[in-house]
Amino acid sequence: MEIYDIFMLPLEKRILARIRKAIIPRAIGNILEVGYGTGVNFQYYNSASIKNLSALDIQSTSSAKAKATFPVDFFVGQAENLPFTDESFDTVVETLVFCSVEDMDKAISEVLRVLKPGGLFIFIDHVLPENKELASLFRASNTVWSKIAGGCNLTREPHKHIRVAGFIIEQSGSSGHRIFRWGIGRKAPTSQL
Ligand SMILES: C[S@@+](CC[C@H](N)C(=O)[O-])C[C@H]1O[C@@H](n2cnc3c(N)ncnc32)[C@H](O)[C@@H]1O
Repeated sequence: MEIYDIFMLPLEKRILARIRKAIIPRAIGNILEVGYGTGVNFQYYNSASIKNLSALDIQSTSSAKAKATFPVDFFVGQAENLPFTDESFDTVVETLVFCSVEDMDKAISEVLRVLKPGGLFIFIDHVLPENKELASLFRASNTVWSKIAGGCNLTREPHKHIRVAGFIIEQSGSSGHRIFRWGIGRKAPTSQL
């Protein structure tokens, strides 16, 4: 087990596993997972719905490869500059990655670019809490946290940027004092673009 998986175990048990189990199986067809990390999502895909899974991260993790029980094409690359042609995926999955990308809006626009019209975007992110006291604590800790947690930011609000970018949000929810936000967004079909 990777150190990341051990560190995340309490959060996985209390919050994340339930969300992953509910939304990752919705991925269908040609799927791209951005920032697959240690491959924690692989166990939740419905293999019968997968035509092909491409998994991209800025670094490759050997344990992720061991977790895949179906064929996965692994890529090293950046969410902000995806090495794929326009409209090539039916589904894009992103979980807990937008906190640490350098340019979140560019990454969101790349997701839109590589999705086919009508394609699905499945995401989970931690966000700045709505509670004012908690938000102040997150803002105050962010600089130090970001240094020790590989560039992770506690102050972002990806769920709002995803909506503004034009995704039609079909399902969404939150957990853990609304710090974890998840959603299933759809890229507009061609006729609405
Ligand atoms: C906190 S981990 C999340 C891993 C996994 N998706 C999960 O849900 O547990 C963040 C992952 O995003 C990757 N990452 C960070 N910046 C990235 C970028 N610009 N493009 C692609 N992957 C990135 C990191 O290497 C890391 O594997």
